Order: sequence, then C-alpha cells, then structure tokens
Amino acid sequence: MTDKYTQLVNQGLGRNVAKKLGLPQPAILRRYQPGQPLISGPVLVQGTTPGADTLAAALLAWDLDVRRHAVPRERLGAIILVLDDVAHPGELERPILSVASSLRDLAPSGRFLTVSRPVTDDVTPAEAAARQGVDGFLRSLAMELRAGATGNGILLGDAVETTSPSTLAAVRFLLSGRSAYVDGQFLTVTSPDGQLPADFDRPLAGKVAVVTGAARGIGAAIARTLHRDGATLVLVDIPAAGDHLAGVANELHGTALQLDISRDDAGQRIIDHAVQRHGRLNIVIHNAGITRDKLLANMDHTRWSSVINVNIAAQLRINEALLASDHFASSPRIVSVASTSGIAGNRGQTNYAASKAGVMGMVRAAAPLLAERGGTINAVAPGFIETDMTARVPLVLREAGRRLNSLRQGGQPADVAEAIAFLASDAAGGINGGVLRVCGQYMVGA
Ligand code: NAI
Repeated sequence: MTDKYTQLVNQGLGRNVAKKLGLPQPAILRRYQPGQPLISGPVLVQGTTPGADTLAAALLAWDLDVRRHAVPRERLGAIILVLDDVAHPGELERPILSVASSLRDLAPSGRFLTVSRPVTDDVTPAEAAARQGVDGFLRSLAMELRAGATGNGILLGDAVETTSPSTLAAVRFLLSGRSAYVDGQFLTVTSPDGQLPADFDRPLAGKVAVVTGAARGIGAAIARTLHRDGATLVLVDIPAAGDHLAGVANELHGTALQLDISRDDAGQRIIDHAVQRHGRLNIVIHNAGITRDKLLANMDHTRWSSVINVNIAAQLRINEALLASDHFASSPRIVSVASTSGIAGNRGQTNYAASKAGVMGMVRAAAPLLAERGGTINAVAPGFIETDMTARVPLVLREAGRRLNSLRQGGQPADVAEAIAFLASDAAGGINGGVLRVCGQYMVGA
C-alpha cells in the first residue's frame, strides 16, 4: 500500500510545488533496520535531578554521544527532558525554555522525549498540576516538530527510576526507528520489573509467539517483525485464509494453525498446538479483527454480534484459557490490537468501537492477573494504517485519514508491529495494563 503523494513531495519538482502551494509535506520517516545505529547525532539530556544524571550515564554506556549542555548549532539526534521531580507548574518554565532554542537543531526524524511522573491520588494539587502540565506541553510540542521528528513521554510509576529496565527499554524504543509512527504519546512504566536483552537486535530470541489473524495485513507484518526479533511463531487464521497463512508460515519457518478464534475451544487449541509443536508458549498477540460498519439505525444482530465475538469476546475466552494453563507461566506476554476508533469513536462503527474500547478495558483489568505470574498485558491502538482495509476507503476520506495527524501520512503495518514487538519483549516487563497509540498523533481522539 503506497502513499504516492508522500513519495512525490519528497522529490525535486514535487517538493517545490508543494512548498509554493502550502500543501502538506510529509517526511520519509526513519524506520528501524537491524544493525543500524540507535540514533544518529548527539543526545541532549536536560534536567538537574539525580534521575537525569543516572539516565545520562546509562545512555553513555550504550555508546551514545550524550550532551548535558546544548552546543549552539550542533545537529542533535534527540533531546530528552527529565522532569521527574516537578512539584508546581511554576517549575516547568526553566527546564522547558532551556531546551526551546535547541529544537531548531533537531535532525530530521529526531526525537524529543520527556521523562516525568504520572498524576496519582497521593500527590498535592500543585504536584498534579505540574505533572499533568507536562502532558499538555508534550502533546503540543509534538505538533510543532517537523521533518519526521516526534515527541513522546515516559511516565515513571511508584518505585520506578529513570534507569529501571523498562524505562531504559522505553527510551530505546522511542529513540529508535521502531517508533517512527508513535507521536504525541505517553508510555507509563508501572513497575521496576523487566530485563534488558543480551542482544538488542534479537530481543525475542528463544520465545514462542502466537499471532492471530496472521495471514495478511497487520498480522502478517507482526509475524515478520517478531520473527526478525528472534521469536518462533505459531500463526493463526481462519481456514478460508489457509493458503495465505501457509505462505506466511513457510516464509517465517513457523507453524500454521487454521482456527476460527471465536470457537469456544480456541484457547486450548492454541496452547496444545504451541506446546506440541514448539514445547512452550510465551507470547500471544491478539490481532485478528473484523469490521461490519453500519449506522446504528441500520445495525442488525449479525453485524453487531460478529464484531463483538471476534474482536473482544474471543480474546476474553482465550485469555481465560491461557491464565488457567501451566504452559503460559514463563514471563507471559499478551498484546491486543485495539484502535483509535475505540478511543474517539467513529461514525458507522458503534459495534467496532465498542469492541475495541472493550479491548482497552480488558487490558486494564487483566493486568494484575498477568502480574501475578510475572507477565504483562497491553494494547496497541493503531490510527490510519496503509492496508487493504484502508485502501478500500473512498479517496477523499482516505486522504483526510492519512493527513489528519502530525506526521501528515498513514502508518505502515510494520509500525504497529514494532510497538507490539516492543511490548512483547522481556525488557517491557515493567509496562502493564497500558494502551500505546501508533497513530502519528492522529487528531481524532487526540
Ligand atoms: P485484515 O482484515 O487485513 O486482516 C485481519 C485478519 O484476521 C485476516 O487475515 C482475517 O482472516 C483474520 N480473521 C478475521 N476473523 C478471524 C477469526 N474469527 N479467527 C481467526 N482469524 C480471523 O485487517 P488489518 O487491517 O490487518 O487489521 C488487523 C487488526 O488491526 C484488526 O484487529 C483491526 O481491527 C486493527 N486495526 C486496523 C487498522 C487499519 O488501519 N488497518 C486501524 C486500527 C486497528
């Protein structure tokens, strides 16, 4: 699925015409390739707290070129602003304005990150105002960045430090090309758990992962990304998609399981297949999903119930089977695909939005159940992604969907897959019960 406009405005004549007419100029985004440097250019770490010092030291240990003070007109790969102890909104000005002039030096596809604390019940109103203020600041700044640069935040829960494993893993993910289409978002690190991998290019080595709906689209991209990161795959799809499924399974040396996930015994069938063929099961990615769009006035039982059944009821049933199984007990990871429609709503998608909002509710409530066995469950909510599904959207709506985000383009299936692979890794063990949007800071539901 190509976005010809983005290609056009990145070539000589097209670039000039778009500039003259004031048309959107989406950048070619920096996307991850194994072996490439994490980020090109120095990383400026600003902040005066002990947390800023220890984070800067950790980044130095990754051989990054770390600066604690801006050097005027030096091209920067990233700016990290550590605001982990702000106690009053008045305290935001000095650190924020101290990085303002460095923004001009941020390289194309550069990164701006904040590291701060979330609002919790036990903080004072002034502390809460300062912490929530970081949210408004970051989301607005992300809209001001250009040339494929993105702005995202990391929130450190109780007992989480700037150098806890999942904080560092989140910093790494957000600096890298893996997060190309994640913009204007916050990742909350909920616990100091998690373990950084021996090899950052193969963080899923030794893991057995199940991907549902893997015959095509985003599911096939998830399968390719998990395979690249070292996982052994069980690929699930309906029997009607069997040929495509077998093709993906052969390409990635995984096994195919033809299965309708809405069957009552789907969970057990998945566990049995994974254990019999691969000896274990570590990761389950709930990607399979359907749409049956209609205005509610025209909605019938079949449209409503099929969407609820496949998109959320099946996941609930499969998770129940997983949690009852001794085979899903070694740092288990579940990642579910939600949608920005489930956050903002979407005309004609009452059934779909109910199911996808349901996914996010399920993830929140299931988090403690996974934590009991050292595991996590999270959701990824894609915005407009270039797939067969969105290629069928009428042209005008499609163009609006593509451009109504800060990066002025749709995402690629691989962008969703990268976020899922990150959340499925051992390094993300301290991130539980959250939703990460992969939407280029889609204005819908922002
Ligand atoms: P797709 O329609 O191209 O692929 C979905 C796959 O799931 C197909 O291979 C299908 O056969 C399989 N599937 C459907 N029902 C199944 C069942 N009962 N049992 C087993 N497999 C089943 O869809 P796409 O675009 O790749 O979407 C993947 C996920 O991402 C879905 O959950 C979708 O709701 C979500 N999503 C997609 C967005 C987009 O822009 N394409 C945006 C937001 C969310």
